Amino acid sequence: MKIAILPGDGIGTEIVAEAIKVLQALDLSFTMESAPVGGAAYESHGHPLPDSTLQLAKDSDAILFGAVGDWKYDTLERALRPEQAILGLRKHLGLFANFRPAICYEQLVNASSLKPELISGLDILIIRELTGDIYFGQPRGRRTATDGHFPGAEEAFDTMRYSKPEIERIAHVAFQAARTRKAAGSEGRVTSVDKANVLETFQFWKDVVTEVGQSYPDIALDHMYVDNAAMQLVKQPKRFDVVVTGNMFGDILSDEASMLTGSIGMLPSASLNSRNQGLYEPSHGSAPDIAGQGVANPLATILSAAMMLRFSLKQPEAAARIEKAVDAVLTQGLRTPDVYSPGTSKVGTREMGDAVVKALG
Ligand code: IPM
Ligand code: MG
Repeated sequence: MKIAILPGDGIGTEIVAEAIKVLQALDLSFTMESAPVGGAAYESHGHPLPDSTLQLAKDSDAILFGAVGDWKYDTLERALRPEQAILGLRKHLGLFANFRPAICYEQLVNASSLKPELISGLDILIIRELTGDIYFGQPRGRRTATDGHFPGAEEAFDTMRYSKPEIERIAHVAFQAARTRKAAGSEGRVTSVDKANVLETFQFWKDVVTEVGQSYPDIALDHMYVDNAAMQLVKQPKRFDVVVTGNMFGDILSDEASMLTGSIGMLPSASLNSRNQGLYEPSHGSAPDIAGQGVANPLATILSAAMMLRFSLKQPEAAARIEKAVDAVLTQGLRTPDVYSPGTSKVGTREMGDAVVKALG
């Protein structure tokens, strides 16, 4: 088994170093190879996703990814910006299924801006389609308008589109995930989020998800417009179990869901293709404002490594060991500044990583 290590920018290098430490402490047999990505790769290779990095990713069973981006690259032409690295990896590896769990740790229930009773026990899974929709739809670009409100004016446009097989495969992923969760005690519900009241693409989405749902009589299916879903997520988040939605709505709703739990610094994510090859990354970004200070929370990346062991490397026991260790350090009262509250012990990135290693037992 081979893991590609792509730390990237900002706090990416610091948090990935802690996850590597944890992986090494498990005493499993796999090889790891690092490569630059994002702004770091632009500096060293002139491109955010150099061929050598892409090749390494393709040749690996799993990719452990830190984060990319820094304000200083905002003025570069789009093709050279750090974000293109993650979009390129998704596209070239066909990583269409993005898992973004939002789990509220009981120890952190007071770190949320929502009332504890709303989020205590929260455990929802957002499944975001990741290689289609308006993110990748062609054509796109700038041109002179020939119609619309201002013919002759400069305009920009993107294309929202989904094919039937694209919707079918992500719907199957969602129903299967709901089944697995149901076996572990969840409700067994998929909520498909769309904008069928306005968009042709999402009426089609709703129709196809409904059709796929007929093969899963054991799983409840409901449909929700995206604006209502945004509201319900803060009003009664525990009504959700698995949420499945398109690329753009999923981008927005998964950030919202992550904040329900109090800290985006705690949440892992996985992006899988049909061969179970996966990219694993924290749900948060590169946080250039705190980079290099040793204060970033490494737990989301450490938990991403656990997801990697479970999904791509088929080592569920090792994954569970990491998850238990993370739970244990929280119970010990250790907190990085993002989740600190009076009465707990404030620690830095490295101390937190060390504590997890120690708690592995
Ligand atoms: C995410 C990020 C990316 C996205 C950016 C960095 C391109 O926001 O993974 O959610 O929009 O998908
Ligand atoms: Mg996002």
